[in-house]
Amino acid sequence: MTTTQDSLLKFEIPEIIFGQGALSQVGQCARRLGGEHILLVTDPGIQKAVWVDAAIRYFDEEGLRYSVFDDVVTNPRTFQVEHGAQLYHQDNCDVIVALGGGSPMDVAKGVAILVTNHGRIQDYVGCNLITQPIPPLLCVPTTAGTGSDVSQFSVIADTQRKVKMTILSRAIMADISLIDPVLLTTKSEELIAATGMDALTHAIEAYVSSLSWPLTDPHAIHAIQLVFKHLEKAARSKDIDAFEGMAIASLEAGIAFSNAILGAVHALAHPLGGIYDLHHGLANAILLPVVVRENMEHAPEKFAKIANAMGAETRGVPTKEAAEQVPEKIEGLISALGLPRRLSQVGVQETDIPLLAKQAAEDLCMQTNPHCYIAEEIESMYIQAL
Ligand SMILES: [Fe+2]
Repeated sequence: MTTTQDSLLKFEIPEIIFGQGALSQVGQCARRLGGEHILLVTDPGIQKAVWVDAAIRYFDEEGLRYSVFDDVVTNPRTFQVEHGAQLYHQDNCDVIVALGGGSPMDVAKGVAILVTNHGRIQDYVGCNLITQPIPPLLCVPTTAGTGSDVSQFSVIADTQRKVKMTILSRAIMADISLIDPVLLTTKSEELIAATGMDALTHAIEAYVSSLSWPLTDPHAIHAIQLVFKHLEKAARSKDIDAFEGMAIASLEAGIAFSNAILGAVHALAHPLGGIYDLHHGLANAILLPVVVRENMEHAPEKFAKIANAMGAETRGVPTKEAAEQVPEKIEGLISALGLPRRLSQVGVQETDIPLLAKQAAEDLCMQTNPHCYIAEEIESMYIQAL
């Protein structure tokens, strides 16, 4: 068998520590990564929810010094990455700990890039452009959805150009992902619902991606099963078993998409974050059924298997009919969660659609979608979602 560089597949994940109370390991893990002075990247909401105080206690127990950087917002900005890198150098930090949802984790990765590779974060947008190893990085997710703790992605908004920039490199994979489902208990119902829909989108897009393979597929399918089993209960009743199920769903969806990459839902969602500052999970939730209806004919067998994972009856059902149940199942879940169903409900204007479509067509995630859509087809999808 001949093998070319292009046909090689890879599978990479960090060390994973999982379970209720796992946060108590954060000091020991940071010490084990060689830490003396930690840069803790977080956001003001996590500060308020007492998890920052808890992490600091565990740093103190290990005799670690620390600096807290919490100037992070949803759809994090380039200048926040630069400020974090300045603080890292100013305080002579040696290990980075990200405590939060996707935004603090993506900023922490951006900071890690700048402190050893220098220049501007914009210089690293694209695939595998990072040449120097980053400092040790430990991620502690406080939401169940982004998968940033196990992924090779960092997405940062350039507010001047109003675009979300995707950095993809195995160099920015965390050393350790420390997952404590108890941290989900302080999140709002809406946030749990929206981030959970992000996890579902990761799993579906990874499963139908042109780079999916036998090491990513089982994680994607299991994540879909877990979302349909646990997300509504996690959002509504704050049940700890449901949180644990969603934490595993997020982890497995993250493992799948980090290695198989994503698709058109993310390509269309990124410009909505850059232009409207729309929450990433919410953008995905609204776009997912529309994109799935377009994608179905390009991977019908895979969508039939997804329908089965969602709990639809597929035995003896023709492939096309089985696949058609997927968008219906997704719409049912979105309605049960009480999330908006239309882009017009979240402020998107029809006049912006050509600009949104242009950015989506150029997004890195479009390259692994089962079909590569041109700008006119993308405009039609935004209109369907409006
Ligand atoms: Fe995502």
